[in-house]
Amino acid sequence: MARDERPLRRVNRTHEQARINYDGLSRCYDVLAGSVERRYRNAGLHMLAAEAGERVLEVGFGTGEALQTLAAAVGPAGTLHGIDISQGMLEVSRAKLQHACLADRVVLQQGDAVQLPYANCCFDALFMSFTLELFDTPEIPTVLAECRRVLRPQGRMCVVAMSRRSADHPMTRLYEWLHDRFPRRLDCRPIPARQCLEEAGLRTVELRRMSMFGLAVDILLSRRH
Ligand SMILES: C[S@@+](CC[C@H](N)C(=O)[O-])C[C@H]1O[C@@H](n2cnc3c(N)ncnc32)[C@H](O)[C@@H]1O
Repeated sequence: MARDERPLRRVNRTHEQARINYDGLSRCYDVLAGSVERRYRNAGLHMLAAEAGERVLEVGFGTGEALQTLAAAVGPAGTLHGIDISQGMLEVSRAKLQHACLADRVVLQQGDAVQLPYANCCFDALFMSFTLELFDTPEIPTVLAECRRVLRPQGRMCVVAMSRRSADHPMTRLYEWLHDRFPRRLDCRPIPARQCLEEAGLRTVELRRMSMFGLAVDILLSRRH
C-alpha cells in the first residue's frame, strides 16, 4: 500500500467563527446532516451502552439527537450533561428534550470543549460524535485531556469520527480537497482518531469501522486508564 505523505489538514477558523457557523446551521442541521449521520451516531450510542443511574456527558451535542437516547438510558436516577459552543444548537436541543419530557434529567451548557467546566473524575461515560474532527490539530490533545480529566478512572468514552485510516481513498482525498477550498464552511476533516485517543491515555476497547459514501468513519470505545 502506498504510504500517505499528505499532512493531516489543519482547521483555520476560530472558535468564534465555529460558534457563528453552528448557530446559523442549528435550525436546518437535521435536514442537512441529521439523517446521514444518524446511523453512525446510533452505532456509537449502542457501543457506549449508557446505563440507568449513570452520569454521562455529551460534548458537541448539536441538535440533541443523541441526548434524547442518552437521557432515556440514564433514566430518572441518572444525570446527563451536555456542552456545545452554539447557543442555537442548545435551544434546538432543549426544545426536543422538553417535547420528549426528558428535560428534567439533562443539564445543557454553552461552552468550549477545550476547557470543560466540570470537576475531575465526575462522569461514568462520555459521548462525542462528529465533533473531535472540528478541532485544529494542536487542540485535539487538549480536548481529549479535558475529556480524560472529567472521566472517572476506568470511565468510558465513545468517539464517532471521520477517520483518516484510508487516507488514499478517493473520497478522503475529495473531502480534504473540499476542506482546503472551503475551510470555513467545511471545517471538519478526517483524523486518526484511534491514535489521538491512545496518545491521550484513552485505551481502545472496541473499534467499529464503518463507511459513509466511501469516507471512513470510526466508532471507538475507549477507557480511561
Ligand atoms: C458536526 S456537529 C455534530 C453534532 C452532533 N454531535 C451530531 O452527531 O449530530 C458538531 C457540533 O460541535 C459543536 N462545537 C463546535 N466547536 C465546539 C467547541 N469548541 N466546543 C464545544 N462544541 C463545539 C458545534 O456547535 C456542533 O453542534
